[in-house]
Amino acid sequence: MSTSAVPWWRDAVIYQVYIRSFADGNGDGVGDIAGIRSRLPYLKWLGVDAVWINPWYRSPMADHGYDVADYREIDPLFGTLEEAERLIEEAHAHGIRVIPDIVPNHTSDRHAWFRAALAAGPGSPERERYVFRQGRGPDGAEPPNDWVSCFGGPAWTRLPDGEWYLHLFAPEQPDLNWQHPEVRAEFESILRFWFARGVDGFRIDVAHGLIKHPELPDLPPPLEEKGPRRHLDHPHWDRDEVHDIYRSWRRVADEFPGDRSFVAEAWADTPERLAAYVRADGLHTAFNFDFLMSSWDAKDLRAVIDDSLSMLGAVGAPATWVLSNHDVVRHPSRYGRKTARRWTVNEPYRAEGPLDLELGTLRARAAALLMLALPGGAYVYQGEELGLPEVEDLPESVLQDPVWERSGHADRGRDGCRVPIPWSGSSPPYGFSPDGARGEPWLPQPAAWAGRGMAEQRGDEHSMLELYRAALRLRREHPALGDGDLTWLDAPAGVLVFGREPGFVCAVNLSAEGYRLPAHTSLLLASGPVEDGVLAPDHAAWLAV
Ligand code: NOJ
Repeated sequence: MSTSAVPWWRDAVIYQVYIRSFADGNGDGVGDIAGIRSRLPYLKWLGVDAVWINPWYRSPMADHGYDVADYREIDPLFGTLEEAERLIEEAHAHGIRVIPDIVPNHTSDRHAWFRAALAAGPGSPERERYVFRQGRGPDGAEPPNDWVSCFGGPAWTRLPDGEWYLHLFAPEQPDLNWQHPEVRAEFESILRFWFARGVDGFRIDVAHGLIKHPELPDLPPPLEEKGPRRHLDHPHWDRDEVHDIYRSWRRVADEFPGDRSFVAEAWADTPERLAAYVRADGLHTAFNFDFLMSSWDAKDLRAVIDDSLSMLGAVGAPATWVLSNHDVVRHPSRYGRKTARRWTVNEPYRAEGPLDLELGTLRARAAALLMLALPGGAYVYQGEELGLPEVEDLPESVLQDPVWERSGHADRGRDGCRVPIPWSGSSPPYGFSPDGARGEPWLPQPAAWAGRGMAEQRGDEHSMLELYRAALRLRREHPALGDGDLTWLDAPAGVLVFGREPGFVCAVNLSAEGYRLPAHTSLLLASGPVEDGVLAPDHAAWLAV
């Protein structure tokens, strides 16, 4: 691992491993640690700096691991603690850092603490670690307030003993009470447990949700549709007191050698609010969801880039850029749709209207060059480097995301971006599981993925995979890329052109006309053919100047 003067997390390219769907080592149809270990050479070849691995802890899998029953054990579906330790060592030997996911907002309902709380009954100290309340109405038959679950339906479930408990997600994910000292102490101990095993940091799930308003008031009225974004004083999202928790977590990380770091999954109303998570004594980085939510529109993207860089720069933090993850429609399928509508926080994005996948893929190629040229760090969601689209036609009978049931089948949920990825071959499991595997992939893979795996894309200079690989190599080698600043250069409407020192220009054409590239000494990389110095619509290029 490089030991440059810039801490690694300021400009790392972090590859997201959605463990269930990355690689299946034991042939049961579900990805696992053995699978990740066997694919480390691929990740090294691709050229990423780190992996973020979605939750691997012991879990009943009501939300695919985001319902943790034991934070110090690996779920048997994925392997053992010993295998996790091996993986960390082997990844390090490949020069790749490892960032597990930590889930502090809620546990599983099978966690020892929640079971103890159920057994101990109303009014017990065991219940104080969670958020239990009496209901409203004459016999307490109404939930304590009007909060709603992110997965649909009320955020409260009533127990046979009459009390209600809070779950901002599924009922199997009871929310912890972060005002309780034992909750704070336990998570610091869990962080130390994993830091001592060599992990390089954590991705923090629902980082903006831990603190609830002590009086649990009803929700405020929603903001008017139009007008500038502004912060809403919300009873359970992004409350100021949450930063106190992360100041202690930062102290825990700093106890360990070697630049351990945190990335927050924090959804904030404004870039200023997001920047508060990454002040010098808090977390290191936060996902930039504004970039992911932006439509394929030059003005919109430029505004997001400027806001992010200025707000994060003001607190000395690097920006991060992300196009896809395991919760959202894959970006070739987003960009392949006409809608220019910007997607907003807390509004689930679902694919709408006819899909032009060829267009979406062209734009995804250009977006990759844009993202990887911007100052800061970047995330690559597994399969994005293959150009995988969303799988939009999964039969209803196979859908597993709790969102599908909780929404009363109104929302198909997130399974379409979680289908096991193709490695090689022309029929499922496309090398995801070993030959002769006893289990089918846990979600069916589309026939259209035949011949689109790593093996087939490798060595094909026009493939998405080779584009990502070339961009990652240049990014490592070119002194202008990674951490730093950018300067916007003059360009016609719909075209984004910026320079980075020394001697680098990135141009992205989001307009409908060809764009004549500025004077340059060489074309370093382009997302498609550049003829006579003209960048076609929906293309991007990196230039040496
Ligand atoms: C955010 C995670 O990314 C998502 O997959 C999960 O369902 C929720 N947090 C709840 O933990």
